[in-house]
Amino acid sequence: MTQTLTIARPDDWHLHLRDGAMLRAVLPETARHFARAIIMPNLVPPVVTGADAAAYRDRILAALPQGTTFEPLMTLYLTEDTDPADVAAAAESGLVKAVKLYPAGATTNSASGVRDFDRVRGVLEKMAEIGLPLCVHGEVTDSDIDIFDREAVFIDRVLDPIRRATPGLRVVMEHITTRDGVEYVKANDTDLGATITTHHLVINRNHILVGGIKPHYYCLPVAKREEHRLALRTAATSGDTRFFLGTDSAPHTDSNKETACGCAGCFTATNTLSILAQVFEEEGALDRLEGFTSRNGPAFYGLPVNEATVTLTKGDAVSYPAKIITGEGEVTVFDPGFPLHWAVAG
Ligand code: DOR
Ligand code: ZN
Repeated sequence: MTQTLTIARPDDWHLHLRDGAMLRAVLPETARHFARAIIMPNLVPPVVTGADAAAYRDRILAALPQGTTFEPLMTLYLTEDTDPADVAAAAESGLVKAVKLYPAGATTNSASGVRDFDRVRGVLEKMAEIGLPLCVHGEVTDSDIDIFDREAVFIDRVLDPIRRATPGLRVVMEHITTRDGVEYVKANDTDLGATITTHHLVINRNHILVGGIKPHYYCLPVAKREEHRLALRTAATSGDTRFFLGTDSAPHTDSNKETACGCAGCFTATNTLSILAQVFEEEGALDRLEGFTSRNGPAFYGLPVNEATVTLTKGDAVSYPAKIITGEGEVTVFDPGFPLHWAVAG
């Protein structure tokens, strides 16, 4: 018997689109299934001001294939020089939907990130005042902290102090990877939400390291132990509205991944919804897929749920391209390691 599921059209609350030829190649992969996405600002140079965000938004819209509708929700990259008045104006105009905090050195193109949190206090206070969310890459970067502990230590040393010092600040913990992250969200109030990626629901650290190193499974925050993956799956499929999808789909060319010092990022835009349907089915939670992909995120950001829908149909194995061709080189599509049976239309 064919099984079908129609859900409100999903949004991606954490997406890397890049620029130029890469943008043109990866944008259609997201726009095929998603109505909107929170667009990460870690370009080189980063998207720092309202004017930068407006120009980037125009480049994204110009790269959309004809006849495609997709709304980029822009973010600003928080630096120690960010001007609170510029942030407020960009938010008020509707252009910018969040500010992104990268601790300096945490990941791809994060060199302009924050070192001294006292220097961004004025911006955070303004954001709390106007209700603009802070999206947080939650990893400390101190060299004496084990990379697998970066998220848990960040919560204690950075996130919790920031939240205590800035009452009313709305925070999204991005791409949580640990039970600690799940528990921190659950222990707190409605000003705190978290995105979860598709790949962190599928892989643990063994997938990266056992039987030869797999560069296409390397991302940041790096996948953790199996117990953490299971905690993420429970959170994502629980129906708790504080957890929602942010794919962190992050394209890098194969030549930049398959090298002695490979870039971090999994490219999941192409097959994310098929993978998620399978994960939710395995967890006996297909009825909660729509909340995770299409309802909880808009609720957190105070935006309407999309009126358009997508329909998922279960059948024979669905095939997706192993790679997409871009003007910069080939980009490998995330391989979940199992056949996919949910096709997506609409
Ligand atoms: O794996 C990642 N890739 N994590 C990030 O935080 C950044 C991203 C990228 O931009 O490539
Ligand atoms: Zn990211």
